Order: sequence, then structure tokens, then C-alpha cells
Amino acid sequence: MGKKSKIAALREVSPLSEDDRFSYTESFRTLRTNLMFGLVQREKKRFLVTSALPSEGKTATAFNLSVVFAQTGVKVLLVDADMRNPKVHRYIKQKNDKGLSAVLSGTLDVSSAVTATEYENLWVLKAGQLPPNPAELLEGKYAERTFAEMQEKFDYVIFDTPPVNLVSDALSIAKKSTAILFVVREGVSTHEELKKSLRAIEQADLDFLGIVLNDSKAEKSSRYYKRKYSYKYGYGYGYGYGYSPKKDKNRGEIDEVSRKDA
Ligand SMILES: Nc1ncnc2c1ncn2[C@@H]1O[C@H](COP(=O)(O)OP(=O)(O)OP(=O)(O)O)[C@@H](O)[C@H]1O
Ligand SMILES: [Mg+2]
Repeated sequence: MGKKSKIAALREVSPLSEDDRFSYTESFRTLRTNLMFGLVQREKKRFLVTSALPSEGKTATAFNLSVVFAQTGVKVLLVDADMRNPKVHRYIKQKNDKGLSAVLSGTLDVSSAVTATEYENLWVLKAGQLPPNPAELLEGKYAERTFAEMQEKFDYVIFDTPPVNLVSDALSIAKKSTAILFVVREGVSTHEELKKSLRAIEQADLDFLGIVLNDSKAEKSSRYYKRKYSYKYGYGYGYGYGYSPKKDKNRGEIDEVSRKDA
């Protein structure tokens, strides 16, 4: 059996026509290209996907990006670092049996905890048994070693994380030389919450890779979309590349970001 290459999240948000699938996949490929350029300058080839609040598309984005990264032939590890509400195992149709929580507790090493997937070059470290103290585990004595082992064994490490305005987990991961990819979902995310997140990221002096606009209306209302899809589905992705909250404090605007890649 050949390995599958299609974007798995589509199965979760079906029904989609073939044309929609193509457009959705293409937007992730464009995003991949931009991110790979962004990561070239960084010593550690890893980033986390987060957003201000729940249900903005963090897991869908992290998963689909992992798939398209792996399609280029590099070895990718997707880590489910949402040890509060883990979802990555569902995308690969597995049980959330062992994973990150065991590794961070020192009972398993990364190599024995990761699981292969149906996608060539893509491995997943599931969240594992839900710990009572995810934030402490991420700051704990096995954390550095865990991150080093992940990077040693894989070309790219991508983390799915919980919402940054609710818990500190994503920021703890970012403190370990992990760049931040921030998801904003049009029609759901608010400017207020986005500003709150960006402020926290700026104050902690973390590495900000960019903003992804999920469910982009700009994409849907483009002439191409109007003609072909009649606004039926909203799977557009925009990407604000290289945005730094430090350099320009006025640029935390969702509208500006959406225009960038539309
Ligand atoms: N662009 C999109 N179009 C349609 N549905 C989407 C889109 N992005 C995400 N979804 C759907 O929205 C729901 C929430 O997405 P997802 O689980 O990725 O969000 P999340 O930010 O990871 O949420 P949580 O904070 O609970 O982990 C899922 O059912 C997902 O399939
Ligand atoms: Mg999630």
C-alpha cells in the first residue's frame, strides 16, 4: 500500500469537492514555502502552532502543515503538546496511549514514544496520558533533554499547543528556542484577544515566526473564489510572514494580515 499524501484534516471538515481540496492543499503548500524560508535563518528547525483561544484552527493547521512539510522528503515530528485537550491522535486514527507526558516525566525516551503514521516521513508524538500539571512538566527537569532528542532525530519539529491566553504551555515551549506560528480565525478571533497574546509574546521576548489567517474571507471573496466556489466553503489560509510585534506595535491587525497572502 502506498503512503497517502492528501491532507487528512479534510476528512474532519468534509464534505469538500475536489476543487476545494486542491485549493486548500495549495494554500498549505504556499504556507510551507514561506515557513521554510523563515526557518532557514534559525538554528533550530522547530515551531509551535498556537492561538489566543480554543477552536481557532491550531490543530488543523499544525497537522496539515506537518503533512505538507513531510511531503518534501524531510523527516517531520508532530508533537501533540496540548496535554489538556489532545486531538492529534484523532487525525491519525490512533488511541492516545503513550506520548509526550511520559517523555517529560522521564519514563520513556522520544524514540520509543513516537509513532509512525500513514504519511511518509511524518511521525507523531501523541500527548499521552493527561497529566495534572502540563505546565510544570514542560518546565521540568526532562524538558531540555526531550527537546534536544526531538531535534536530533528529526529535521523539523512542529508542536500543537493549547490557547496562549488561557494557559502558559505554549509560551513555555517557545522559551526553548521554538518559533511561534500564530493562528487567527476570521470571524472568530477578536482584536482584543490577539493583542493580549501578542503582548504576552512580546513581553517574554519570544521568537515570532508569523500569523496564519485561517478561514480567510479575503480568499473566499477573491474573484476566483466567487466564480468557482460561490462562497460555499471557507478553507482559505493567509500568512503574514516575518511579522514581529517588537518591530511594529501597530501591526497586530487581523485585516492587514489577511491582505498579505490573499
Ligand atoms: N478553515 C476551516 N474551515 C472549516 N473548519 C475548520 C477550519 N479550521 C478548523 N476547522 C474546524 O474547526 C474545529 C476546531 O479546529 P481545531 O481543532 O483545529 O482548533 P484548535 O484551535 O486546535 O482548538 P482547541 O483550542 O480546542 O485545541 C475543528 O472541527 C476543525 O476541523
Ligand atoms: Mg487543538
